[in-house]
Amino acid sequence: MSTNPAFEMRNISKRFPGVLANDNVSFAAAKGEIHALLGENGAGKSTLMSVLCGLYRPDGGELLIDGAPVDFRSPRDAIRAGVGMVYQHFMLAPSQTVTENVMLGLRDTPFVLNTPQLAAEVEKIGAQFHLPVDPHAMIWQLSVGEQQRVEIIKMLYRGANILILDEPTAVLTPPEIEGFFRTLREMAAAGKTIVFISHKLDEVLSIADRITILRGGKWVDTVANANLTKATLASMMVGREVLFRLDKTPHQPGAAQLALSQVQALDDKRLPALRKLSLTVHAGEIVGVAGVAGNGQRELAEVIAGIRPVTGGAIAVTGQDVTHAPPLARIQAGVAYVPEDRSATGSAPDLSVAENLALRAFRKAPLAGRFVLKRQLMQQQAQKLIAQFGIATPSPQTPSRKLSGGNLQKLILAREISSQPQVLVAAYPTRGLDIGATEYVRKVLLEEREKGVAILLLSEDLEEIFALADRIAVIFEGQIVGDLPANTADLETVGLLMAGEQVEA
Ligand SMILES: Nc1ncnc2c1ncn2[C@@H]1O[C@H](COP(=O)(O)OP(=O)(O)O)[C@@H](O)[C@H]1O
Ligand SMILES: [Mg+2]
Repeated sequence: MSTNPAFEMRNISKRFPGVLANDNVSFAAAKGEIHALLGENGAGKSTLMSVLCGLYRPDGGELLIDGAPVDFRSPRDAIRAGVGMVYQHFMLAPSQTVTENVMLGLRDTPFVLNTPQLAAEVEKIGAQFHLPVDPHAMIWQLSVGEQQRVEIIKMLYRGANILILDEPTAVLTPPEIEGFFRTLREMAAAGKTIVFISHKLDEVLSIADRITILRGGKWVDTVANANLTKATLASMMVGREVLFRLDKTPHQPGAAQLALSQVQALDDKRLPALRKLSLTVHAGEIVGVAGVAGNGQRELAEVIAGIRPVTGGAIAVTGQDVTHAPPLARIQAGVAYVPEDRSATGSAPDLSVAENLALRAFRKAPLAGRFVLKRQLMQQQAQKLIAQFGIATPSPQTPSRKLSGGNLQKLILAREISSQPQVLVAAYPTRGLDIGATEYVRKVLLEEREKGVAILLLSEDLEEIFALADRIAVIFEGQIVGDLPANTADLETVGLLMAGEQVEA
């Protein structure tokens, strides 16, 4: 790693309507360096890097590449200066090959593509930087991890010397992350500058040379990765002390409250999503479902909530068959559901906080009048829940769409838990929340476990699953391919199962 900055951002500010996303931020990285950009959701990481790659023009500040001032008007300008970004959502053409995608949009692409030669170049870049991918495969045939490799190859082929990767590990399994880190090291060894955007402390500590922390749009610090602890980094990220330990009593499961046997269901494209999936959750335990996104997690939650039909098998709640029961009957049977999509499925954005908090309860006494909701009772109940769950809202009458993600999640949890369920399905309950709100949600889940609720937790965060779950059920292609006690399960085994490998028990 040399001390020459490959790029330098000086006093960058970027404003969106109502938000100062970057507030006078300075940030530089050296050639051959892996520099992590760390911050909570909304800290301004993606915005800052979108300025560096020419997608946004800053409202103030300067940008230098190799010591010379630049003024990018488009990503094309940036790539000409050697700056390339791999976004969180890939931009590949699904029905074209890997090689065609790498060439796509290049101005000097020859009219007739010399495919064998180009494919060989793609293969060469792949081999040099440990990015294994078949140059002739169609994009739609590739896993998400492979598609990410294509995006990186595309940037390298365009001559990027500065590569920005926005939360790249979010879509990868643990073994894929190992391979991906090797790619980063090889790119850095070849003199490239890597900006690795992340909010995951473990990853940042294991791969970065230096770490720059953003908080609330502002630069907090840039530190060398030596003698750092997770706690130090977390407090810089959040601005206060963070506790990682969760108090958890020993696992004492009770009766089987939720039982799925051989359940089958289709996804939205009418393709099989659950393929004879069997799973049981007992009272007083948390079963964590680990899996790569898109392996049937959403459909699993939805068949339990009763909002997706099953095409085979059976579902029982507290011993009662609910296989074909409508959602309301499931609620009455004791099922609570914290859905993945908080604003569309989870809440009614135009209704007030108070009305949203009552959405479940008004179907039952005492809130259910014959024709009208008992307004006053509803207000009182809302005030109680707002205080108990610490929901930050100007008033109970505020429309719920005005709440931040963390507060909307607290509202949904408050509503679901106040119905005193027997079974709680929590789909990605801390996704997108900051550390403070995450801690709170996890604490609430553990409290419900103490009360004897059977909890099914879907999460993409393995750390969260290991911290909360009593059992870890690994889902792969619509089946549970492993069911392990959390206290003896190891990350490697879970990772292999997530990738669809056979593992000796
Ligand atoms: N295109 C946009 N329009 C309006 N606001 C935006 C836009 N992109 C980001 N923001 C806002 O800017 C802030 C920083 O967002 P972002 O850079 O995406 O953060 P991070 O990547 O650290 O999660 C957030 O408050 C976000 O809501
Ligand atoms: Mg971002």
